[in-house]
Amino acid sequence: MSAAPLAPLRLGIAGLGTVGIGVVKIVQRHADLLAARSGRPVVITAVSARDRTKNRDADLSSYAWEVDPVALAQRADVDVFIEVMGGHEGPAKDATEAAFKAGKDVVTANKALLAHHGQALAELAEGLGRTIRFEAAVAGGIPVIKALTEGLAGNAIRRVMGVMNGTCNYILTRMETAGLPYDTVFEEARQLGYLEADPNLDVGGIDAGHKLAILAAIAFGTKVSFDNVLLEGIGRISIDDIRRAGDMGYKIKLLGVAQMTGRGLEQRMTPCLVPAASPLGQLQGGTNMVVIEGDSVGQIVLRGAGAGEGPTASAVMGDVMDLARGLHLPTFGQPAAKLADPVPAAVSAPASYYLRLQLMDKPGALAKVATVLGEAGVSISRMRQYGHADASAPVLIVTHKTTPDAIAVATAAFPATGVVEGEPVALRIEEL
Ligand code: NAP
Ligand code: HSE
Repeated sequence: MSAAPLAPLRLGIAGLGTVGIGVVKIVQRHADLLAARSGRPVVITAVSARDRTKNRDADLSSYAWEVDPVALAQRADVDVFIEVMGGHEGPAKDATEAAFKAGKDVVTANKALLAHHGQALAELAEGLGRTIRFEAAVAGGIPVIKALTEGLAGNAIRRVMGVMNGTCNYILTRMETAGLPYDTVFEEARQLGYLEADPNLDVGGIDAGHKLAILAAIAFGTKVSFDNVLLEGIGRISIDDIRRAGDMGYKIKLLGVAQMTGRGLEQRMTPCLVPAASPLGQLQGGTNMVVIEGDSVGQIVLRGAGAGEGPTASAVMGDVMDLARGLHLPTFGQPAAKLADPVPAAVSAPASYYLRLQLMDKPGALAKVATVLGEAGVSISRMRQYGHADASAPVLIVTHKTTPDAIAVATAAFPATGVVEGEPVALRIEEL
């Protein structure tokens, strides 16, 4: 006697923008494939957005419409609530909580929600025997959450790093290839619709910082702690530095790094130099890349589209399919109640630094700079001086490994030498 077929998995989708419509299209286009792979039909029963009259590039006529996402989350004919509205307060949070309380599982693409409320939501969901999944929240179409929580579950994770904001990578690589300044390319990105409504989420490193905080929680078994991510955006990166870093064999990336050190959990989302020939150095345009290092697996590199309708909806559907198949894992890879309070590292691990100075053409100028570095305990590994176009010339220095504090002491002391013009630039070089 064959087993009775499983009941359909019924989805309620709140948010019918880029991601929500992408999910609708996959469910409609691949109904047979989804049913074959999960053993049950996957159907949409109800949807919600702000403006019902908007033309949405998909046929929604067979779905019930809810004005209020909270009401959608509570509907009796919804098993899984898909939150793709965005925002970390208000409807996204309210409806997610309402869904758990009404006995539903949740799939979200909302990194801001997870970064700010991940621990509380995980505790609520797990306390009620529910599941929240969020593959689409980090690196779009790349299944990095699945890789960390499942495929690499047998590894102690040493480091997670990556380029997780496509807009910033687009801006930096476009500056390099077109030789255009930051402001021009920023405007170009705005025209192309690449920037978030609040562009500082992208160029200020906040969006990528949200993603890093989520990965760090899974990798190191700690509560999500976005407040402890050291954040710096790409606004101060000049075309000069992109070119000069290139001359020294590096590319500049907005790089996220999370690692557990003897001094605590280090989480940084800052502009860094990476070797030009490395996978991260080679990453062009809006693509994302996540590099994970585990004690058994070594280093793995995941690369793919970090945003857009298809890739993000693909990640949402991966989560939906897990729920359809009955896979219910703890939110951050282990029970939320067991996650540790992170001890944030007070300072970043030592690293080599790239320094760019505009040095006056005076006898002994270089010696004065070398003295400042020596007194700060910073040792020079490589140096390059360019020709004097006028009374000063750019000098590039790559240091041996040193501490951020020592670099700060040296850069603060440069003006008093009387031979350094303008602001020196110091950027960390990340070893890969
Ligand atoms: P979007 O295109 O701006 O769409 C947002 C949708 O949410 C719209 O349909 C909007 O309704 C609806 N909405 C907003 N507030 C609402 C409310 N109070 N009640 C009901 N509906 C409401 O956004 P998106 O790009 O799809 O992004 C959605 C989520 O996915 C965000 O958390 C974002 O960070 C995340 N994400 C996006 C991408 C991407 O490539 N776009 C990638 C990864 C993650 P109206 O259409 O009526 O205005
Ligand atoms: N603004 C984000 C990016 C979208 O540029 O990568 C995906 O989170």
